[in-house]
Amino acid sequence: MKPIATPSPTFWNLIAKKYIAGDVADQATYERKLAQTQSLLKPEWSILEVGCGSGNTAMTHAPFVTQVTGIDFAHKMVEHAQSQAKARGIANVVFEHKGLDDLGTDQSYDAVLMLSVLHLQPDWKHAIRKAYALTSAGGVFISSTACIKDMSPMIAKLAPLFRAVPILPSLVSFTQDNLLDEMRSAGFEIEDYWRANPKDATFIVARKPA
Ligand SMILES: C[S@@+](CC[C@H](N)C(=O)[O-])C[C@H]1O[C@@H](n2cnc3c(N)ncnc32)[C@H](O)[C@@H]1O
Repeated sequence: MKPIATPSPTFWNLIAKKYIAGDVADQATYERKLAQTQSLLKPEWSILEVGCGSGNTAMTHAPFVTQVTGIDFAHKMVEHAQSQAKARGIANVVFEHKGLDDLGTDQSYDAVLMLSVLHLQPDWKHAIRKAYALTSAGGVFISSTACIKDMSPMIAKLAPLFRAVPILPSLVSFTQDNLLDEMRSAGFEIEDYWRANPKDATFIVARKPA
């Protein structure tokens, strides 16, 4: 299972310190997403967060499941997440310096999370198919994604330029409908989707049939 193009961690290592120190843009919406996720989790579950960044979300979900694995291809993000988990004494979280494409599909997870990640994958359709392979039958794929074609036609036009400059994040643009269609065609059933307003990221709960 190989993507047609791979993203680079350069930008994320460069901005890691600032990103980690920054405030959540919309705390109420973030908390709504956390609560909806936690309402789906089960104590016996193991979950995977791809592109975990600071690790805060993964650590917040840790008390609700047996095991959390967070991966990020930016080593500066992972080092921060590891040190926070240690400082906070959270024993059921492991953070690994890995990209999505480094993961084999021999292991699957009851929930796979990609939060602000799919629109950064040059081969986003491949990333959805990989999420499907990584999700256990009956499990959920939870994502929050900037659908740039709906949010800003101007940035959508600039997205190919971003991909041409390795120091910039590799943005891809699609609509919310494109995203939902792609998840359905990968095999997921869409259980819920919403965005707080038309310019916001779309939160999707997709289930892999049992
Ligand atoms: C916008 S940040 C989001 C971080 C976190 N999920 C959040 O919601 O705050 C994107 C993160 O995904 C990571 N990332 C992007 N593509 C990745 C990939 N293919 N594999 C692993 N990590 C990736 C970046 O290094 C960065 O930490």
